[in-house]
Formats: sequence, structure tokens, C-alpha cells
Amino acid sequence: MSFGLSAHRCLGAPLARPEASIALPALFGRFPNMRLAIDDPTQLGTVNSFISNGHATLPVHLA
Ligand code: HEM
Repeated sequence: MSFGLSAHRCLGAPLARPEASIALPALFGRFPNMRLAIDDPTQLGTVNSFISNGHATLPVHLA
């Protein structure tokens, strides 16, 4: 779903998947106590777009 569907499906998906499989474990390994920096996740803003759905920011405490 994240890479779209059909004719305009993301051309970079075969690159983005292995990148994420390296980068995300490295991030979580380096900062094992990383946690949200806000108490109420429903307060996270959303991206101002009609074609994309996601959080505008994701504030975290690293340590
Ligand atoms: C996590 C990383 C990525 C995500 C979530 C992502 C997501 C998407 C999405 C949702 C689309 C639009 C599909 C549509 O129009 O229906 C798209 C298109 C595209 N992406 Fe990505 N993408 C990522 C990384 C990349 C990378 C690394 C590249 C290139 C190296 C790339 C190249 C493209 C291209 C060229 C298109 C246009 C395809 C077309 O219109 O035919 N993307 N991507």
C-alpha cells in the first residue's frame, strides 16, 4: 500500500525496501529507548495533502 498500485506504482520500491530493512533496525538498535515525545498520539498533525496520508511530524526522545 505504501508504494501505490498499478501503472504508477513506485519505481523505487525495490531500493526503498532494503534501505528500510537496514536503516530502521540500525536506528532502533542505536536508540533502544526511543519513545514518542508527546503523551497523546492523537495530537500528531497530519500531512496537508489530498493524495497522501501521514504524520506531519513524529517527535521522539532518543534516550
Ligand atoms: C519509503 C520510500 C518510498 C515510498 C513510501 C514511496 C512511495 C511512492 C508512492 C506512493 C508513489 C506514487 C504511486 C502513485 O502515483 O500511485 C511513488 C512513485 C514513485 N516513486 Fe516512490 N517511494 C519511495 C521511495 C522511492 C525511491 C527511493 C525512488 C527512486 C530511487 C522512488 C521513485 C519513484 C518514482 C519514479 C515514482 C513515479 C512512478 C510513476 O509515476 O510511474 N521512490 N512512490
